[in-house]
Amino acid sequence: MSAPLESSKLQIRSTTKPSTPKNNEDLGFGKTFTDHMLAVEWTQEKGWGAPEIKPYGNLSLDPSCAVFHYGFELFEGLKAYRTPDNKITMFRPDKNMERLNKSAARICLPTVDGEEVIKLMGKLIEQDKHLVPKGQGYALYLRPTMIGTTAALGVSAPDRALLFVIASPVGPYYKTGFKAVRLEATDYATRAWPGGCGDKKLGANYAPCVLPQKQAAERGYQQNLWLFGPEKYITEVGTMNVFFVFKDAKTGKKELVTAPLDGTILEGVTRDSILTLAEQNLSSDEWTISERYFSIKEVEERAAKGELVEAFGAGTAAVVSPIKEIGWNGKDINVPLQDGKQSGPLTETIAKWIADIQYGNVKHGNWSRE
Ligand code: COI
Repeated sequence: MSAPLESSKLQIRSTTKPSTPKNNEDLGFGKTFTDHMLAVEWTQEKGWGAPEIKPYGNLSLDPSCAVFHYGFELFEGLKAYRTPDNKITMFRPDKNMERLNKSAARICLPTVDGEEVIKLMGKLIEQDKHLVPKGQGYALYLRPTMIGTTAALGVSAPDRALLFVIASPVGPYYKTGFKAVRLEATDYATRAWPGGCGDKKLGANYAPCVLPQKQAAERGYQQNLWLFGPEKYITEVGTMNVFFVFKDAKTGKKELVTAPLDGTILEGVTRDSILTLAEQNLSSDEWTISERYFSIKEVEERAAKGELVEAFGAGTAAVVSPIKEIGWNGKDINVPLQDGKQSGPLTETIAKWIADIQYGNVKHGNWSRE
């Protein structure tokens, strides 16, 4: 019988050279890593081996490994936060484990018992707890990754895999911090399509998006607003989900809208958290919360009528990222910001709701896991 992944089999080999924490000002995003990493091997024959926490270091892999040739790779991203009473909590790790298993199943890698991996990530954090930054806007970013390690060039389901988790003390994702960005609405390149795997967190979804991003940057836009199909539906922004706020000029009713999970949209944990919090906190007399198709044409038309109120990206890395302009058809669509501020009012409120839960000022069900 093939062995399940069991946290009780953990072996720990500690570094002999523990590092000292960096100042928060010196933390970027994912540039430096903690002293240890977690690794677990899997084989079709035996199942999961004993998990190991060991000093952070290079992997040694056969150059014929499946990951290098056919993209057998998936990853996750989640953060651990230091609370004012000095606890360290992971934000909704169960959602990441759920998605990790969906990604694994899609590319014929083994699935895991998510709770066991959460326990192991807890041990990894404990091992390097002195490196978890303090302060709003700072966190420990965890990057669970799984690769196919079968050393052969035939294209088939890997019979060997490696699951590893690395951890990076991080500050803001963008160097500019919480600052509204300019987007280029992109229809000449497509991020994801029906029947594809754009809803899975596979490395293969990210590399092809960098060239259009560089091209947008050459024209003065920080990120792509990914459009899809002849209708030019708005799908995502950069590496994030995207939300728009419209206000009906006649009724005054506002709508918070994001694209539906139709297989082309990443099942973002921040996306889900925002929808949940909006449902719970926004009055249904004033607000509609929608997961529906909407196009750049609708955004353009509603902006012309003064009905475009706010727009922002949402993801684990940047959490909430306000949008101020969208380049489309040779013109810029302006997204209003509050006077003297970098976002609209709902964007600011949502960022606060989430930060309050992540940093332990407000409790929300079992979203924070110590
Ligand atoms: C996220 O914000 O959730 C991301 O996936 C960004 C990551 C690729 C750096």
